[in-house]
Amino acid sequence: MARKKFLMGNWKMNHTIAEANAFCEDVKDASLVKLARNKGVMLGVAPTFLSLTAVKKHAHGLIVSAQDVHYADHGAYTSNISIPMLKEIDVNWSIIGHSEKRTYEGETSFTCNRKIKAMVANDMHAIYCVGETAAQYDAGITKDVIREQVVTGLQGLTKDQMAYIVLAYEPVWSIGTGKNASVEIAQDICSYIRGLINELFGKVASQKVQILYGGSVKPNNIHDYLQAEDVDGALVGGASLKSASFKELLENI
Ligand code: PGA
Repeated sequence: MARKKFLMGNWKMNHTIAEANAFCEDVKDASLVKLARNKGVMLGVAPTFLSLTAVKKHAHGLIVSAQDVHYADHGAYTSNISIPMLKEIDVNWSIIGHSEKRTYEGETSFTCNRKIKAMVANDMHAIYCVGETAAQYDAGITKDVIREQVVTGLQGLTKDQMAYIVLAYEPVWSIGTGKNASVEIAQDICSYIRGLINELFGKVASQKVQILYGGSVKPNNIHDYLQAEDVDGALVGGASLKSASFKELLENI
């Protein structure tokens, strides 16, 4: 089954509103949305909460994603943003479970699951991140870790709700380090994840679900990853920040 390729830039805590606007101007000048459409690639960025409105306004046709969302609609959750708040500005995507949230802020697969369930119930798309640390990789328990993250994170979802889920395999040791996972590792784990989705939600869901690789993806290596059978795209941090590099990533898919 042919799955669409997907390039998503994760800006993390980068870009002021002015910088986000400048990026959008460049995207417009370079007709990147048109290029993506011609190539059949889904193209998006995940700015900070503060820049979401600006990017929505200035980059028509780009998928605009939050980097996190709370599972409750409202309430005493200082510093958080809710699903209705995102929907009010027409943001229908969020990254969930990024390793930086897991590592620095105690995000667990259980809290990810609460968020994902709330999102799909509200027609929101989740890019659910999974990945092992360097110690877990060295201990040879990558697949056990991934299994726990996938099974717990997606617990309680129906087959149909899987249409709202994109998975991203991001080995923690490769994020922002320049130390990529080899294409073989990326393919092995993405194929393992697809197998898990088959086990949990059946063949159709497993063939349809998009699985991205993330971790030091650059313009000079994105092509190789996307040749792998089970890698449907890339979640890119550092190399997505500058519009020129973002353009090259897209061109090289
Ligand atoms: P990186 O980040 O491309 O800078 O390694 C990827 C990510 O964290 O999504």
